[in-house]
Amino acid sequence: MSALVTGGAGFIGRQVVAELLDRGVAVRVLDDLSRARPGSLEAFEGRPSFLGLTKGDITDPAALRRGLLGVDTIFHLAASVDVGASVYGPVPAVRANVLGTLNVLEAARAANLRLVLVSTCHVYASAAGPLDEGAATVPASPYAASKLAADDLAVGYRRAFGLRDTIVRPFNIYGPWQRSDLEGGVVARFLQAAMADRTLDVHGDGAQTRDFLFVEDAARGIVDASVEAAVGQTLNLATGRETSIAELAALIDAGAGRVRQVPHPHPQAEVERYFGNAARAHELLNWRARVALPEGLARTRAWFAELAAR
Ligand SMILES: NC(=O)c1ccc[n+]([C@@H]2O[C@H](COP(=O)([O-])OP(=O)(O)OC[C@H]3O[C@@H](n4cnc5c(N)ncnc54)[C@H](O)[C@@H]3O)[C@@H](O)[C@H]2O)c1
Repeated sequence: MSALVTGGAGFIGRQVVAELLDRGVAVRVLDDLSRARPGSLEAFEGRPSFLGLTKGDITDPAALRRGLLGVDTIFHLAASVDVGASVYGPVPAVRANVLGTLNVLEAARAANLRLVLVSTCHVYASAAGPLDEGAATVPASPYAASKLAADDLAVGYRRAFGLRDTIVRPFNIYGPWQRSDLEGGVVARFLQAAMADRTLDVHGDGAQTRDFLFVEDAARGIVDASVEAAVGQTLNLATGRETSIAELAALIDAGAGRVRQVPHPHPQAEVERYFGNAARAHELLNWRARVALPEGLARTRAWFAELAAR
């Protein structure tokens, strides 16, 4: 396999690159660096299988063509991921996530490439029980709607053109390299606040729940999903454990009394409960999350401490 990772300089994408390189796969990154943390690709420079960065926008077909030279598989992660921003101005999310994905699908179709499309649990409605892949899809924000539109486009390409794709829906990913300026990056936001001895601001009452998946587990699942047996499948990646935001804040605060509730900036786009059923990924890929939340939090905290010391 030789792969292009779109969004490969981002939080999850760079971990997918690391996983692929560790498996001996030649990898190129296509990223416009609009949201990447500085230095996110430094660790890969000099590794013989790292084909480097093509700096470009996925909405630009010429940039995609450059990125795809000599590649047989696309891991598509580039996206505009800020849920809150999409509520105030949906155009960037629709542009990157729908039009950008359309370009990726066209490129995959034209060259008969294998595609792993990274979707999100945000396409699902709030959970009444663990969400499997057949759960109702009810996007609560323009971000979620744009991701669901991308998934539907992929299904349309699969049916109309025989595209060999797999849709992967990871739940709430956290870990080293996550940005702390995004609402979705609540672990990063709370850890940085705690480390600076600031308040941990919980949006609303904190009863909303999430299924927190460590970034290494997510990346391993995304790469595993490129096997032939997963063509035409939609696969959740989740731990099946539900943690409320209030519990998460308490865990990170460790009794220091810095947790406070603040008014939710956009309660209409909040989802009450997310937790997933990843039985299909286990069955097809033998994938299971390995890193439990306390260990993942400790490793993420250590990374932020290292970053602060640089
Ligand atoms: N973070 C999560 O909890 C989570 C959960 C499920 C799914 N996802 C999905 O995983 C993917 C990666 O998310 P992330 O959290 O790593 O976000 P991120 O913002 O860290 O990474 C996205 C990368 O894409 C790049 N990018 C953005 N728009 C681009 C464009 N038009 N052209 C080229 N590059 C562009 C950014 O510079 C960034 O490096 C997204 O598709 C997201 O929807 C994220």
